[in-house]
Amino acid sequence: MDQTVHPARAIDGIVTLPGDKSISHRYGMIAAIAEGRSAIANYATGADCQSTLACMQALGAKVERQADGVTVIEGGALREPAGDLDAGNSGTITRMLTGILAGQAFDSRIVGDESVSGRPVDRVTKPLERMGAFIELRDGRYPPLVIHGRPLHGIEYTPPVASAQVKSCVLLAGLFAKGETIVHEPVRTRDHTEIALTEFGADIEVIGKTIRLQGGAKLTGRELVVPGDLSSACFFLVASLLMKQADLVIHGVGLNPTRSSLLDFLVGMGAQIRIVNVQQIGGELIGDLRVKNSKITGGVIEGALTAALIDELPALAVLGAASEGGLIVRDAAELRVKETDRIATVEAGLKRMGVKIETAPDGFTIPGKQRFHAAEIESAGDHRIAMAFSVAALAADGPCLIKDAGAAAVSYPAFFDTLEQIAKA
Ligand code: S3P
Repeated sequence: MDQTVHPARAIDGIVTLPGDKSISHRYGMIAAIAEGRSAIANYATGADCQSTLACMQALGAKVERQADGVTVIEGGALREPAGDLDAGNSGTITRMLTGILAGQAFDSRIVGDESVSGRPVDRVTKPLERMGAFIELRDGRYPPLVIHGRPLHGIEYTPPVASAQVKSCVLLAGLFAKGETIVHEPVRTRDHTEIALTEFGADIEVIGKTIRLQGGAKLTGRELVVPGDLSSACFFLVASLLMKQADLVIHGVGLNPTRSSLLDFLVGMGAQIRIVNVQQIGGELIGDLRVKNSKITGGVIEGALTAALIDELPALAVLGAASEGGLIVRDAAELRVKETDRIATVEAGLKRMGVKIETAPDGFTIPGKQRFHAAEIESAGDHRIAMAFSVAALAADGPCLIKDAGAAAVSYPAFFDTLEQIAKA
């Protein structure tokens, strides 16, 4: 599906977001291995998290979406799947589910689409092999993953990359391993796995950047609520900040501190964002945001901040071009192995719109005070590229065509409906 996006004069309204993608993956996987019934409200509607449910069903979990939208999962011991487990477009599934499967008493195979098939998974199989796992990869590095279930033992591990997926994989494998599994994070990454495991009853302790988990604990089904996805909210925040006139309320957004540096960064650049009604649900913080049109100074993203904002960088690149001082992003080599090479796809999209950008192997520099020109832009099948450039199109000097915009459904099927409701011509 291609989508035409028309320039807008203002953004206003009230938005409710789909459930957070990262948290939904975790609740879906962990509920399937926990004994008994879990009821998960606001489980993500995007294709990625639906792939998780399909995989867990193939592994024996019972999944039902109730009329009120709550997803009910009956979990317990997993069983050998009848066929391949399809991760679709989701790198998170390939990395995290492998951790769960490595220590099972059966073999399994995880496949994915073309994008997933080109994304490295040796970052998770290396620590798993140290735990006793036996996993075969294409060219020693890529999916499909053929996982030969083996008894595992705990390890002490420091991941070489700042990756929540790698940390989560090792911890999930640790559930089925003998003894203690310890992960020391080089840089703090999103901690949804630690929170979810605590909620489902795992024996887990977090001290600073070290996580200790005891193998063999019995997990039990739970009732949980998935907060709205802050990474999806980011597109509407940026849209509002690009406009001369904006007043948008976003309800029920996840505000986990390992994710919310986005808000600190935007406020630091001058964004008028108010956070209200903050509460804690199932270990996760949730609240409402109100954003108004603001003058944005520009800034630098590097080091630990890059890891914290990794999914938001395409949208922030768009904002950077319109800001007063521009945007510099460093230490972001990980962007090259996302759903697309996002340094290349951001560069291609911005250049199509007549926006200057200089790239490096691990980042980019975008001068400020630039204008967006009407253009046809390729999403390259990447949901965040499709949404970032749809937002850029609101500020363009004419209608833009976003090619393969349907990719947005990977995380946000209703994105264009919501955009149309809040963007005023
Ligand atoms: C995710 C972690 C990040 C992020 C991805 C989701 C997660 O990946 O980019 O969209 O849910 O754990 P890395 O852990 O590879 O940085």
